[in-house]
Amino acid sequence: MDTSVKFESAKWITARALCPSGTAIFARRFFVGSGLVRATARATAVGLYYLYLNGKETTDALFTPGFTAYDHRLMVQEYDVKAWLAEGENTLALSVGNGWAASEVQFHIYTDHVSVIAELTLEYADGTRTVIGTDESFSIYSSPVLESTLYGGEIYDLTHTPALLGNASLDPTVTTPTVRHQGEWIRRQERFSARLIVTPKGERVLDFGQNLAGYVEIRMQGKAGQRIVLSHGEVLDRDGNFYNENYRDAKSLATYILKDGENLLRPFFAFYGYRYVRLDEYPYDEVDLSAFTSVAVYSDMERTGDFHTGNAKINRLYQNVVWGQRSNFLDIPTDCPQRDERVGWTGDAQIFIRTATLNYNVKRFFEKWLTDMALEQEKDGAIHRIVPFIHIDKDGSDRYAAGWSDAGVICPWEIYLAYGDKALLSEHFPMMKAWVDYVRTRGEEEALWLGDAHWGDWLGMENAHIEGCLYGATQNDLIASAYFYYVTGLLIKAGRVLGMDMREYEDLRARQKAAFRKTFMKDGLTVLYPKYDGLATNRPVMGVTQTSLALVLRFGLCEESERAATAAHLAKMIRDNGTHLTTGFLGTGNLLWALAENGQMQTALDLLFQESYPSWLFSVNHGATTMWEHWDGMKEDGTFWPVSMNSFNHYAYGSVYDFIFGAIAGVQNAEGTAGYTHLWIRPTPDPRFGDHLYASLKTENGRLSSAYYFEQDRVRYEFTVPKNTVATVLLPSGKYEIGEGSYTYFETK
Ligand code: BGC
Repeated sequence: MDTSVKFESAKWITARALCPSGTAIFARRFFVGSGLVRATARATAVGLYYLYLNGKETTDALFTPGFTAYDHRLMVQEYDVKAWLAEGENTLALSVGNGWAASEVQFHIYTDHVSVIAELTLEYADGTRTVIGTDESFSIYSSPVLESTLYGGEIYDLTHTPALLGNASLDPTVTTPTVRHQGEWIRRQERFSARLIVTPKGERVLDFGQNLAGYVEIRMQGKAGQRIVLSHGEVLDRDGNFYNENYRDAKSLATYILKDGENLLRPFFAFYGYRYVRLDEYPYDEVDLSAFTSVAVYSDMERTGDFHTGNAKINRLYQNVVWGQRSNFLDIPTDCPQRDERVGWTGDAQIFIRTATLNYNVKRFFEKWLTDMALEQEKDGAIHRIVPFIHIDKDGSDRYAAGWSDAGVICPWEIYLAYGDKALLSEHFPMMKAWVDYVRTRGEEEALWLGDAHWGDWLGMENAHIEGCLYGATQNDLIASAYFYYVTGLLIKAGRVLGMDMREYEDLRARQKAAFRKTFMKDGLTVLYPKYDGLATNRPVMGVTQTSLALVLRFGLCEESERAATAAHLAKMIRDNGTHLTTGFLGTGNLLWALAENGQMQTALDLLFQESYPSWLFSVNHGATTMWEHWDGMKEDGTFWPVSMNSFNHYAYGSVYDFIFGAIAGVQNAEGTAGYTHLWIRPTPDPRFGDHLYASLKTENGRLSSAYYFEQDRVRYEFTVPKNTVATVLLPSGKYEIGEGSYTYFETK
């Protein structure tokens, strides 16, 4: 499909020479005659832009044109702007800032200057049309946004009167194809009011009660020259003082210089990840809390999921999962919204994607991100660890990692499972296949992935006693080979859905399993294969870990006859560890499923309800309002994990909700189906959820739900099946095949 957008007469312009900070305003006057029937504006930028007509913003969308693979494509936004125009003289202005393209992102800057292109097409009743495009006739004015970078934050001076600096220069250096907008628009969402804390250090800190990505809006009367400076933080330290050392080099400051009278203070080109702000500068002794609002900003996806139980802690955990998504689905799926990263780490996205589909409709969101992933796939099939790609390794030596780059197969497949849309699968099948073929070429054995550097079971707990150790003890080669087997299986499934002959890959898969079992397994358990240590870290590795067994069970690398004993061994390891998990990013997403699917549901539930560290509810008990990157981001005694890597808003462990929905509310796509048109409903009631559990999801056919309620001596189940949907319900009393409608069943406790 050709998505290219050509501008008729507009040219790329820049203020590079006159506005070195990157923020600037371009403007031009133009004439509108009588009989205007249509007015359309189109624009994009290398950097960020806002389009104004006669001083008014023409959209409520933020951060346009979004974050794409800037070497490959820039998305063009189109606006119907007739309502903003009047007959006679009008002004078109473009306010630009650095954003993702011209700020430092993950130690790299894509471009050293901002450029913009825009075109306004006026169509009249008599059939004539006028096109006003950016060119050297546009004037450049200084911007009241004095500075703005993604990590540094923004300085906005409301006393600043834009000064005419000269004329725009053409920028022939931009050669990136311009394409139609894809994905969701980024918009302002929930709003929170503040509570004032005076900390033991005597600092004034506002607590908005919810960690999120967005900004603090301030509306207040001011006097020209007064200043407000806000520092942002996610947590208070154990003494109750403001803390944001975990932001690393992201200064995350919001600086405002007020004008006389009413002031509306908010950033234009920066966002922040925070729950608290410290008033570093504030002109008054009294703080008028009603002036402050925290505004969440994220991609405007449709909310489709709903979940609640009779257990307040589990409900909070679910809210934290949802807020992890809200905070990290700001145009691309990011690792975290606060420190000097905020990039599209593929491993985080793949482990969370099923959960993401159960909270929001993320089809368009992932379509956009996967387009960039496919565009950036290397000729040899390699998929980057970060999409849009950021060149973080100068020698390019370890760009491709198991469990991260595998997102290139897992994400298209999960989007297909969630929405049943074959078009996306078909579009990305070449990417999926090329990735599997790439891994075949790695190492000396086609059927295994040995010897490369990986992140492995990132942040796994076995080596938690080594201060600051980021790596679990599961062997990287085992993880890489297990994931290779898993994604080859998904490729085969995708090929079959698309009617392709997959025999070559079926044969590969059989060889993968045999080689894996020979190399990494004995008697249904995993063993040490010490030939390589993947990423050569100074950490101990172990033959059997919770993660190694979880992957073997989940991906089907053990024989059916071994399953029960392997799962029993895994459950015993957990029990012997005081019913605690030791898994990192990759293991955690698979652990509860591996137990539940293999006769160890009780242990899975015990882990879910575990409250002592490490566990999901540990962070809830410590006041978390989002998912933490580490199980022990904040330790029992209130001290923190080292500042080098300690985010309180990383959604990876939020993957637990796909287990809650799929195995406890018990709703899944029946084997071999997609898009929730044939449901498999098998709920698992547990009194620890309190008096009830309710989960629902809006699908294309309507809302489905699965709920149960504990009554005096019985359990009442309620299910809703949308139109054009059938469900197979499995209850202790039997199996029921049902169609559209609402159903109630009773079972004795
Ligand atoms: C990020 C992670 C990411 C990882 C790669 C970290 O710095 O924050 O979430 O997946 O690097 O191991």
